[in-house]
Amino acid sequence: MDIHNRKTKVVTTFGFVALPFVLVILFFVRKSSSDELGCIADEGQLETVVDTAGDPFSHMLENHGWWSLMRHTVLAKELTPHASHLGHKLVRIYDMREFGDEEWGMVQKKGNQFVINDRPFYVNGFNTYWLMVFAVDQSTRDKVSQVFKQASIVGLTVCRTWAFNDGGWKALQKSPSVYDEDVFKALDFVVSEAKKYKIRLILSLTNNWEAYGGKPQYVKWGNASGLNLTSDDDFFSHPTLKSYYKNHVKASFFLDYKSLTLIAWCFPPSLLDPIQTILTRVNTYTNVTYKDDPTIFAWELMNEPRCTSDPTGDKLQAWIQEMAVHVKSIDQKHLLEIGLEGFYGPSTSNRVQFNPNTYAQQVGTDFVRNHQALGVDFASVHIYADSWISETVSDTHIQFVKSWMQAHIDDAEKTLGMPIIFAEFGVSTKDNGYNSSFRDTLISTVYKTLLDSTSKGGSGGGSLLWQLFPDGTDYMDDGYAVVLSRSPSTSNIISLQSTRLMLFNSRCSWRSHWGCRKRDALQLMA
Ligand SMILES: *[C@@H]1O[C@H](CO)[C@@H](O)[C@H](O)[C@H]1NC(C)=O
Ligand SMILES: *[C@@H]1O[C@H](CO)[C@@H](O)[C@H](O)[C@H]1NC(C)=O
Ligand SMILES: *[C@@H]1O[C@H](CO)[C@@H](O)[C@H](O)[C@H]1NC(C)=O
Ligand SMILES: *[C@@H]1O[C@H](CO)[C@@H](O)[C@H](O)[C@H]1NC(C)=O
Repeated sequence: MDIHNRKTKVVTTFGFVALPFVLVILFFVRKSSSDELGCIADEGQLETVVDTAGDPFSHMLENHGWWSLMRHTVLAKELTPHASHLGHKLVRIYDMREFGDEEWGMVQKKGNQFVINDRPFYVNGFNTYWLMVFAVDQSTRDKVSQVFKQASIVGLTVCRTWAFNDGGWKALQKSPSVYDEDVFKALDFVVSEAKKYKIRLILSLTNNWEAYGGKPQYVKWGNASGLNLTSDDDFFSHPTLKSYYKNHVKASFFLDYKSLTLIAWCFPPSLLDPIQTILTRVNTYTNVTYKDDPTIFAWELMNEPRCTSDPTGDKLQAWIQEMAVHVKSIDQKHLLEIGLEGFYGPSTSNRVQFNPNTYAQQVGTDFVRNHQALGVDFASVHIYADSWISETVSDTHIQFVKSWMQAHIDDAEKTLGMPIIFAEFGVSTKDNGYNSSFRDTLISTVYKTLLDSTSKGGSGGGSLLWQLFPDGTDYMDDGYAVVLSRSPSTSNIISLQSTRLMLFNSRCSWRSHWGCRKRDALQLMA
């Protein structure tokens, strides 16, 4: 509970009240950006400023033309009178250089860090998996905008969501390579709406589990077409099922409009509609092809792949290798991750001690080996102490979170040489012994462990909370939903992390080159 107590104090003394001053300081430092003013105020200074001033925002806005000054120099911001029960004025901060369309750059990787336009990009993000299906229906579409808006208010910049729904209810892919255009338009809306709120997306391409189709649905399709499949894991090895998946990424036959024109004479007109699958889809709201859209942070091969039929891991490894190269052959611009939970496997017998249980090494996944596949750009790991260790929350869970994260950060740094994102973490309100302060402790632990890495220039690239819900969507809650309007303390913790990452990203971006003063910046975080 040490961390929690520490964080609570920091939140109280430095939390939202300090945000305005962070902006003020940023502003003045930026204003003198031609000099070598490398260092902004440390927390102590910030607290002093906080103690000695009133409400600087409205004052500056009204009396000093802050907005117009900001426009050409440093930061744009939006004052958001957030839901009053939060009891705070929250502030949304944009880096002005990312504000214009032309500056909405593609996320890339440099060594073990993410960069946008050569500037660092550390991620505070979230999951909301159901955005596409909610966007299909006009009556629920508004929830998509709401969650993006609420996320952006607490400074979250990346959302991971499903770009699949295979067969069944509101299916995107009704059967192999047959898409429902209405659902595709809904996904278009999600992507275009994300950009509106300056949120980037990690799009997952299918599921290991049967929710929203996934691996079992692909096997059913195979069966229905006359294959005699006996295991869901045939998804990873059967040529027909692999071709279904590859076609979902992009129909391999219809390469593009040009080749379509070339073959136009040979095929009946009904075949001449361009087959748009996920990567080649042209967004009907923005006219931007998905594979060219900087709103997309990365592709994910599959949510939580496991291949229990082959504990050696060879079967899944072969699939990852084949599919990573396939995605990269179509889209070289976007980053790619696998979607693994992160269990250590046979290739690293010295690391399996970090697994939450002994079963974890038998599910056919192998964190280090899997991530060495060509085309995989960054590591992604999930953290579920409550589902992997015990459903009764305890301090053991917090200890696990720390050692699990540290082990993976070390591997990403020393063995893989790539950034790592903790792409799902959370705790269920249904767990025995659950209370909200435990959840806050868990979230703070994740954030703190990441910052420890960030502050050393390490591989810790970010985390994505599982999961953020807007109000009125409780019927979708699996127990893990965080509704910001109902969770002021959690909102504070999230905002503080966003602010710290924003400070670091911005501070480095003041330098015109990547060799920004990482160390100085990171003393601030320590
Ligand atoms: C596919 O068919 C086999 C043989 O009938 C059966 O064992 C298996 O459960 C089927 N799989 C699915 C997903 O329907
Ligand atoms: C399907 O395969 C199983 C075992 O691989 C076999 O026993 C069964 O006869 C096959 N069924 C058909 C219809 O081919
Ligand atoms: C997309 O393209 C169509 C057809 O060229 C055009 O009418 C429409 O205005 C474009 N939309 C956007 C958002 O650029
Ligand atoms: C919350 O739960 C944790 C873990 O079970 C426990 O240690 C702590 O005392 C609880 N706090 C409150 C305020 O109930």
